[in-house]
Amino acid sequence: MKTNKFILLAVLQACLFIAPTAVAGEPANGTTTSNHADDSHMQWWRDARFGMFIHWGLYSVAGGEWEGKDYGKEQGGASAEWLMNSAKIPGKQYRDTLAPQFNPTDFDAKEWVSIAKQAGMKYVVITSKHHDGFCLFDTDATDYNVMDATPFKRDIIKELSEECAKQGLKFGVYYSQFKDWYHRSFQRKQGVLSNDEYLELVEKNLDELLSNYGEMAVLWFDVGGNNVIEADQQGARVRELQPNAVICSRLYSRKVPEDERKYADFESLPDRMLPAERMTQDTETCMTMRHNWGYDQNDDHWKSTKDIIEFLALCGARGVNLLLNVGPDPKGNLLPEEIERLKEVGQWMDANGESIYGTTSSPVDFDFWWGAMTQKDQTLYLHVLEWKPNGIEFNGIVGKPVKAYFLSDPKRTPLPVTYDADAHSTKVKVPETAPDQRNTVIAVEYDSAVVVDPNAKGKYHWYTTRSKRHTEIRRSANAGRHELPEAVTGD
Ligand code: GLC
Repeated sequence: MKTNKFILLAVLQACLFIAPTAVAGEPANGTTTSNHADDSHMQWWRDARFGMFIHWGLYSVAGGEWEGKDYGKEQGGASAEWLMNSAKIPGKQYRDTLAPQFNPTDFDAKEWVSIAKQAGMKYVVITSKHHDGFCLFDTDATDYNVMDATPFKRDIIKELSEECAKQGLKFGVYYSQFKDWYHRSFQRKQGVLSNDEYLELVEKNLDELLSNYGEMAVLWFDVGGNNVIEADQQGARVRELQPNAVICSRLYSRKVPEDERKYADFESLPDRMLPAERMTQDTETCMTMRHNWGYDQNDDHWKSTKDIIEFLALCGARGVNLLLNVGPDPKGNLLPEEIERLKEVGQWMDANGESIYGTTSSPVDFDFWWGAMTQKDQTLYLHVLEWKPNGIEFNGIVGKPVKAYFLSDPKRTPLPVTYDADAHSTKVKVPETAPDQRNTVIAVEYDSAVVVDPNAKGKYHWYTTRSKRHTEIRRSANAGRHELPEAVTGD
C-alpha cells in the first residue's frame, strides 16, 4: 500500500516537474541546520515554534532612567537594558547604585512559567548575563551576581529552570559572551581583569550554566565578535557539556560567513525582523511587545494582541520561530499589559495551536492578500488575517481538498470548497464576518500529499514593501528583510 502510494506520487511529481521537497511530510523547502551533521536535537525546537524571551537584570531597577533622564528606546535611545552604556555610567557606580536595590521579592518562577505555558509558549530563554555583566545565577567566576551583590540572594536561573522542568517547558539562557561592559570593559580598564581572564570567566560561567541547572535547551548568545576561534571554543564547550543544547547564531558576528559558523544551530534574524520570504534553514526572530526589551517606566507603545497573533502566524508561514519578549519590573512581576496579551494569545493558541506547532512554512513561495499558510502533513492552514467575505482563495496547490473547516470549530463543520482545475485555484466559501478578526484559521485537508503547482505565481504581501495596499503601515527595511510597521515597533 505504502509503496503504491509512493510510486503514484513519484509519477505525479515527474509529470508536474515538482521538486520532492514540495511534498508534505518532507521538511518545508528543505529545512536544514547548517554545519551540524546530526540535527535530531533540533526537532523539539522546530516543533515548538513559539517561546518566551525574558530580559531582566539590574537595568530593570532603573527602568530606562538615570539621574532624572530617560534613556529608553521610546525616546529614540538604545533599549532600556543598554542604560549603562547609554548614560555612560562607570561600572562601579552602576553596580553600587543598582545591585543593592535589586530585591525582586514578588518573583515567582511558578507564575512566570505558568503564564508562558498558558500563552502556548514551549520554551523560555532568560538573560542570565546581559551586556552589563551582571549574573542572575550563582557563580564562582565573579562576585557581580545575584547571590553576592544583591540583597535578593536567590538563584533566579535555578528557580526558573526547575519550574520549567516541572511544567514541561524547555529552558534556555541568553548569555552575552562578547560584550560585557563591567568585566571586559570597566574591570579590564581598571587593570582588575585581563582579556584572557575575561575569557576564563566566560568559560567558567558556561561550565556552571551547563552543569548546574539540568537540561539547558538553548544557549542564546548575543552580539558575537569577529574572533571565530574564541566563538568556536565557547560553542565547543556547549556541545561538550550539553550536546543537545540548541545554539544561537549570534555566537558569531554577522560578518562571519554562514558556513564558518560551526556551532550555530539556528539563524537568529536581526531584532524584530521577518524575512521577506520563506527560510530554508532553522531560523528564529525575537520580538518585543513594546519598544524596549528590558523594563522601561515610560514605554507605552504596546503592540496589540492582533499584532502578536498576526506576527506569530506570519513567522510560521515563513518557517521562523518566534521568541516573544517580556521585560519584568524590578519587583519581579510581569507587567499587566504583558499578562493580558499573553493570556489572549493563549486563548487563540488553545483553539488554533495545531496550525502553529510542528508545522512547516507555506508550501508556496508567496503569501496572499488575506494572509498566509502553514502546513502539516496533508493539511494546509490558512491564516486569514484580513477577512474576505467573498471567499478565501488561493492558487498554487494542485487538486481539490477533501475538507475545509474553521480550526476553532469543535464540530469541524465543512465549509463549501470550489476548485478551478485550469488555474489550480481553490476557493473556500465563508460567512460575511470573520469568526476571529485577529486571525481565523481555516484547515484545508487533502486526501494525499499536498502537491504544489511549480508554475504558480504570487507575491509576498505581508510586512513587505511593494504592495500599495500596505505601504502606509508596512514599510521597507534594509537588505531584503522587512520590519514590522512603524506603528507597531516604532523603530
Ligand atoms: C540586541 C541588543 C540587546 C538585546 C537583543 C535582543 O542585540 O543589544 O540589548 O538583548 O538585541 O535580541
